[in-house]
Amino acid sequence: MEFVLNGRRVGVDAPPAGTTLLDFVRARGLTGAKEGCAEGECGACTVAMLVNEGTGSAFQVVNSCLMLLPMAAGREIYTVEALAEGGELTGAQRAMAAAGGSQCGYCTPGFVMSLFAEQYRPGRTGACDPLSMAGNLCRCTGYRPIGAAADALGAAPDDRFSERLTRPALPLEALVIAGFSRPRSVEECVAILAHAPETTIVAGGTDLGVEANLRHRRWPQVMSVEAVDELREFADGPEHVRIGAGLPLSRIGRVWRQAPAVVAEWLALFASPQIRNMATLGGNLATASPVGDAAPLLLALDATVQIAGPAEAGGSTSARRTVPLSSFFVEYRRGALREGEILVSVEIPKPLPEVVRFYKVAKRRLDDISTVAAAMAIDGSPARVSRARFAFGGVAATPLRVTDAEAAVEGRAWDEHAVARVQDVLDRTLTPLSDHRGSKEYRLAVAKSLVEKFWWEGRA
Ligand SMILES: Cc1cc2nc3c(=O)[nH]c(=O)nc-3n(C[C@H](O)[C@H](O)[C@H](O)COP(=O)(O)OP(=O)(O)OC[C@H]3O[C@@H](n4cnc5c(N)ncnc54)[C@H](O)[C@@H]3O)c2cc1C
Ligand code: FES
Ligand code: FES
Repeated sequence: MEFVLNGRRVGVDAPPAGTTLLDFVRARGLTGAKEGCAEGECGACTVAMLVNEGTGSAFQVVNSCLMLLPMAAGREIYTVEALAEGGELTGAQRAMAAAGGSQCGYCTPGFVMSLFAEQYRPGRTGACDPLSMAGNLCRCTGYRPIGAAADALGAAPDDRFSERLTRPALPLEALVIAGFSRPRSVEECVAILAHAPETTIVAGGTDLGVEANLRHRRWPQVMSVEAVDELREFADGPEHVRIGAGLPLSRIGRVWRQAPAVVAEWLALFASPQIRNMATLGGNLATASPVGDAAPLLLALDATVQIAGPAEAGGSTSARRTVPLSSFFVEYRRGALREGEILVSVEIPKPLPEVVRFYKVAKRRLDDISTVAAAMAIDGSPARVSRARFAFGGVAATPLRVTDAEAAVEGRAWDEHAVARVQDVLDRTLTPLSDHRGSKEYRLAVAKSLVEKFWWEGRA
């Protein structure tokens, strides 16, 4: 495999299973990117990857510790070593130094890469957004000077980086190397899964990368869906919104121009910029995690999922089926995907609900796993609710819609009594677990209080 690293083409012969992009760049002496946590939390390993944006491209930060090396094939990657030229620091580096944003320096290259990508973000105006560094942790400097560096950094100069962004990224080609394949179509994916059932699908790798690094999982065959165009499509039509299961979350935020406000609120609470730039809805739903954040929102929006799998007669073509998300989650960490199947897209019917909110309660406000997540939607008037949706994560073995609570509200007034009826149903039907994030009593209390919050916010 080959890819472009800091402007130079590099070739790799048969990368050993489990080698990450971070391992690779460090072994080549590019030691600016560091390993802090190896699980996508600290951002010390941040590098920039070129992706298409409009008619040109953009730098997009990713956690190199989570990217299996073959996923970089055909990509253009930049590490911190590429930024300074002839001893002259680039803007993000100068701003960090001037603001005193670095002490021990372990985290600094990661922060610099995030700030660099933000400064060159196409269409950006004014000062840089400090939240562009929300996926980077610093343990000694403190965030005030780091934030000040962002505040001090203005427009990107007219230089070699800006020039590069006027042209598209390299096209992602199909790839087959030992232990790794990257097909171009859903049909090819299904055929690979049929011929080699031991194959593991990788989309953004933000769950699988953690499994590889922390649990030392290795897979005999990995199939990347990153080059499957159909999985990366987005369509906002009159009947429904269709989102490819392999479209990175940050991209959903950019292409869904008419999205209800809740989508931006939900995205901001989902992990970090580095994770959102890789993570997909397909990966989130396929894990069937009870605390995955996509499920509650998509359940409240009545989403369905399209699945492709082997044709009945076992022929070479694939068959498709559609499953309402409300019946997708079968049991703890098991979804409705059968052997040889792949998630293709998520479809949200229109009209979208008139009022819809997403709430996430976690130990940290940003970049944390949910203790309880909830999405609620109401249609109709305060005097008569025509449709209600109450969906939760973290309160049972699977994400779920509480249909009894919805029935207790529909056709009646949306008032304090309705809130009490919903809370009563939650008391009877939710079965939260206790773990280090919260006791079952706490989770139930949080879920009930979120219903009340939803009602109060609807009145404002
Ligand atoms: C630091 C960090 C923070 C995180 N924060 C959050 C958070 O706030 N909220 C949250 O919900 N999650 C969070 N996650 C979990 C993770 O980012 C999400 O679950 C993400 O959506 C997974 O998508 P992916 O494309 O990276 O999946 P991958 O890691 O590529 O795959 C995950 C699983 O899904 C399967 N899969 C992937 N695509 C398909 C497909 N199209 N069809 C069938 N199977 C498929 C894979 O085989 C694998 O089993 C976090 C993870 C990290 C490391
Ligand atoms: S090493 Fe911490 S995010 Fe990669
Ligand atoms: S400067 Fe030491 S961890 Fe950030």
